[in-house]
Amino acid sequence: MAKLLYSATMSLDGFIAGPGGDMSWLTEHIGPNTTVDKLIPQVGALLVGRRTFGGDDPHKGTDKEGKAFGGGYDGPHFVLTHRPPATPVPGVTFVGDLHRGVDAAKAAAGDKYVNVIGANVAKQCLEAGLLDEVLAIVAPVLIGDGVRLFDHPGGTNVTLERLSLTDAPQAANLWFRVVR
Ligand SMILES: NC(=O)c1ccc[n+]([C@@H]2O[C@H](COP(=O)([O-])OP(=O)(O)OC[C@H]3O[C@@H](n4cnc5c(N)ncnc54)[C@H](OP(=O)(O)O)[C@@H]3O)[C@@H](O)[C@H]2O)c1
Repeated sequence: MAKLLYSATMSLDGFIAGPGGDMSWLTEHIGPNTTVDKLIPQVGALLVGRRTFGGDDPHKGTDKEGKAFGGGYDGPHFVLTHRPPATPVPGVTFVGDLHRGVDAAKAAAGDKYVNVIGANVAKQCLEAGLLDEVLAIVAPVLIGDGVRLFDHPGGTNVTLERLSLTDAPQAANLWFRVVR
């Protein structure tokens, strides 16, 4: 049975995107990361939010632009949106409902991970009790404003259990299990 993993690279102050979805802050911090290299073959499907799909890309202007994990992953994509495009996109299934999207992505992933990409979608998965794990790849930068890894106005308390702490030349990888 597939597990749902929310993975994102975040600034030390907890943002996965800058104001307006800007991702240019990340470009200079992209580097080798064996934890991510090992994760990619364990991913069987992506569950992606509409703002991430077609959003800004730290690889902009390179041959890796627009590709999941910079081109390392080429499996099925399930994009959650209320506004699917008129023209089909190869390899992408557009879904208008969280549970249908999760079910379809899990079926496609088999016994691998469904990698959740996008803070809004990850929050919904968490709050629906569907999220199993979180991988935060901490980049050595503070950006001060933007899209938080997890946002809950008024605050909440989600308990996590650390599974691993690994390093990369330019990042620290913090991998957790969601305690339910
Ligand atoms: N640092 C990183 O590793 C990393 C990784 C991924 C993304 N990002 C960045 O993070 C930002 C995106 O995160 P986000 O939290 O703003 O948005 P998101 O989760 O990517 O997308 C949210 C959008 O998805 C659609 N959606 C969400 N739930 C849905 C549902 N249940 N049913 C149907 N549609 C649904 C809605 O779009 P519509 O209503 O318009 O259809 C919603 O506005 C982007 O700037 C992206 O570049 C960073």
